[in-house]
Amino acid sequence: MRLGLAFVLVCLTVFVLEFVECQKESRTVKNVAKGKKQNIGKKVKPAIKKTKSKPKVKKVSVKVPSRILIMTHLSEKGRFRKPSDTLVVPAGERLVLRCKGNHISWAYPSYLDEDDEGRFSITHRERFSQLTVVNSTAADTGEYRCWALDCDTETCRKDDSKTGSTYVFFTDPRELFVPTNDYYEAIQLRTDRPTRLPCQVTNPLAKVSLHREFPPEVIPVNGKLITFDVKKGFIIHKALPLFAGTVYCVASYQGLMQSSTKYLLIFTNYPSAPPLAKIKASSNSVSVGENFNLTCTALGEIDIEVDFTWEFPGEQLGRPAYTRESQESVYVDGQLRQLSQSVLLVDEGRPVDNGLYKCVAQNLQGKTTVSTHVKVLPRTSPGQT
Ligand SMILES: *[C@@H]1O[C@H](CO)[C@@H](O)[C@H](O)[C@H]1NC(C)=O
Ligand SMILES: *[C@@H]1O[C@H](CO)[C@@H](O)[C@H](O)[C@H]1NC(C)=O
Repeated sequence: MRLGLAFVLVCLTVFVLEFVECQKESRTVKNVAKGKKQNIGKKVKPAIKKTKSKPKVKKVSVKVPSRILIMTHLSEKGRFRKPSDTLVVPAGERLVLRCKGNHISWAYPSYLDEDDEGRFSITHRERFSQLTVVNSTAADTGEYRCWALDCDTETCRKDDSKTGSTYVFFTDPRELFVPTNDYYEAIQLRTDRPTRLPCQVTNPLAKVSLHREFPPEVIPVNGKLITFDVKKGFIIHKALPLFAGTVYCVASYQGLMQSSTKYLLIFTNYPSAPPLAKIKASSNSVSVGENFNLTCTALGEIDIEVDFTWEFPGEQLGRPAYTRESQESVYVDGQLRQLSQSVLLVDEGRPVDNGLYKCVAQNLQGKTTVSTHVKVLPRTSPGQT
């Protein structure tokens, strides 16, 4: 344990100067660990002293990045190196990634979980975890991530400062798109967030364009409304009804041209937030036999449907619930909004109607619940006193 801590300290210090240096150091410490234990202290201590005695180094150590990259990959030369943001590996070759730490979690393309031919493995060792993909295919293309877990005897917590990731393209001269199981995919074109068309390529050098099926045309990708990300596919930043319909991507590279899965874009007007509801009773205190009602209102965006549901004291006793719903457009602060409302009518109040009235207003984004009390008082007639 102590060795590990000291090693991290050495690494932290040296990390600023040179990551590769740290790698070397790691190897030295490991070699020593195999041999004589007493040497470890000697090797580590001078490095710490250095930081203390030299104010210059101290200044540098302030700049130590809060993130420690813990991932390395096995390069062609058979050495473990820090991977760049993207790696390009010809399909068929082996990918070996390692992450330093004694508790490591991984994220990788979900396709690998379906592998049952033993091409994919993760092995945990004392000081690192290793992910291996052999006989790789274009479908293994995607992001590979790892992070360290801080574990005590009971639980583990993600240590956000120690992570690593790289995006690996497994290039296949016959597959320009990462294969998927679907020939056709329906995607909601939501107004409240960007839409992704996941036509991911296996080769970062492939040229990719976006096409509409009918009328057949190329959809201009101007870098504003629609952008292309080589790791993600096309991103539609603003959903417009005119983008709805069937679209697909076309990739070309070295004379080969291929089409992606088709995407059916369904325009969906999404609210930006759950409805803001309010509730009001015609009276919060009524006498037995009196009619009363409760009004639940939600002010929101135009053309956004709001569903109202009610919970009230007489519900279980089978008191009938009459509701009346309506919508109207109103101007609020110069903006056109939609006022949705539901009125719960209670005829001839009874003692069982006494209690809490709850209104739940819901739209595609979520719901809000509001409530109020209604007291049903015994009838007070002059004759009964
Ligand atoms: C990888 O491919 C080689 C050659 O085709 C084959 O002999 C081997 O069994 C494969 N390994 C796995 C784990 O699929
Ligand atoms: C609700 O009750 C108030 C007060 O009794 C009444 O004026 C109003 O018309 C009622 N609303 C509906 C929709 O019946």
